[in-house]
Amino acid sequence: MQKDTEQPSKFLWGAATAAHQVEGGTHNDWTLWEREHADELVRRAMMRPDTERERFPEMTRRENYISGAATEHYTRYKKDFQIAADLHHNAHRFSIEWSRVEPRKGVWNNEAIKHYRDVIDELKKLNIEPVVTLYHWTMPVWFSDMGGWLHPHAHIAFEKFVERMVLAFPDVKFWITVNEPTVYSSHGYAKGNWPPGKRSLPLTLQTLRALAKSHITAYHAIHARIPNAHVGIASHSIAFYGIVAPLKRYFWNQWFLDRIHPCHDFVGLNYYFSNHKSEFQSDMGWGLFPEGLEDVLVELKRYRRPVIITEIGLADATDKHRAWYIASSVQAMKRAIERGVDVWGYLYWSLLDNFEWEKGYWPRFGLVEIDYKTKRRNVRKSAFIYRDIIDSWHM
Ligand code: BGC
Repeated sequence: MQKDTEQPSKFLWGAATAAHQVEGGTHNDWTLWEREHADELVRRAMMRPDTERERFPEMTRRENYISGAATEHYTRYKKDFQIAADLHHNAHRFSIEWSRVEPRKGVWNNEAIKHYRDVIDELKKLNIEPVVTLYHWTMPVWFSDMGGWLHPHAHIAFEKFVERMVLAFPDVKFWITVNEPTVYSSHGYAKGNWPPGKRSLPLTLQTLRALAKSHITAYHAIHARIPNAHVGIASHSIAFYGIVAPLKRYFWNQWFLDRIHPCHDFVGLNYYFSNHKSEFQSDMGWGLFPEGLEDVLVELKRYRRPVIITEIGLADATDKHRAWYIASSVQAMKRAIERGVDVWGYLYWSLLDNFEWEKGYWPRFGLVEIDYKTKRRNVRKSAFIYRDIIDSWHM
């Protein structure tokens, strides 16, 4: 196996999105699930405290929970990428919607493949490095009908999709096979509040094992065609503190990575949570502890791989905390680099406001605000502060 640790010539600065959350017009296991569960999610929202419902009245409306047209990024991507370029981003993470390119098993939609070809070309034209995710939680209906990741041949079906993608995009250097396997399997198979809605510890573990196998299969499939590619997963790490922290770190942050090691060329890190006390909260009630990024980065040194922060962000509709959060987390990243972590990039979640899974549209993660009625884009103040941070970066 040929490995190339050739570092990108520049530090990767930018933002991330995922197909189902921004494109609009998708048809996959999630779109089916949304239609089935929207009413129940509205009923639950009605039981939330008055203050929350007053701040985010959208949460009591059915359309909040249906991804539908989303931000129409599928047709507006050129303008969106121009915004990213104007904000001095030089990298962009996005996902390819499997259900679009392989709507039926073994049947390829060349138009959809051409679309992603155009997306990649557009990014390159703007000197923005594409970072491509292959599985960001949505799957073709035929794949979920056969049992999704639990089907004994799931990794083979995934491999065929991956092979087709590397054939079409041999010029892409950064590949993320699976986004947050732990988050996906715990929601879908333990809590049961995401498709396929199972609640079983054995199935959760089985799914994690299947995803590890699918990752490893995809890792080799990508390297077979693009020997110099950088292939990894996006791993969800929590900054744990306290007496049982080592155990929690082992199960949540490390178990999956240990399982795929050494078949990854970089670690993609998604950081949102800590159990540390924090002064401020996001709109979703998540405690904001940007300093924790330093610790989760240092923890990843054990894998002896470069790290790309593939997501970091917060829901903040009024843009009250975002600039502070970005600046503080960049400082935390700097400290981690000084402590010997080889960090290659920082990608904010998200470029655009988007569909936040079972929460729907009310949480606002974007550097760019979306008016969902007109689809108008409005660049938030914090996005310009992020641009200035990018400009002043020297390491
Ligand atoms: C996911 C995104 C999600 C974000 C905010 C990450 O766990 O990869 O899809 O929108 O967190 O919750």
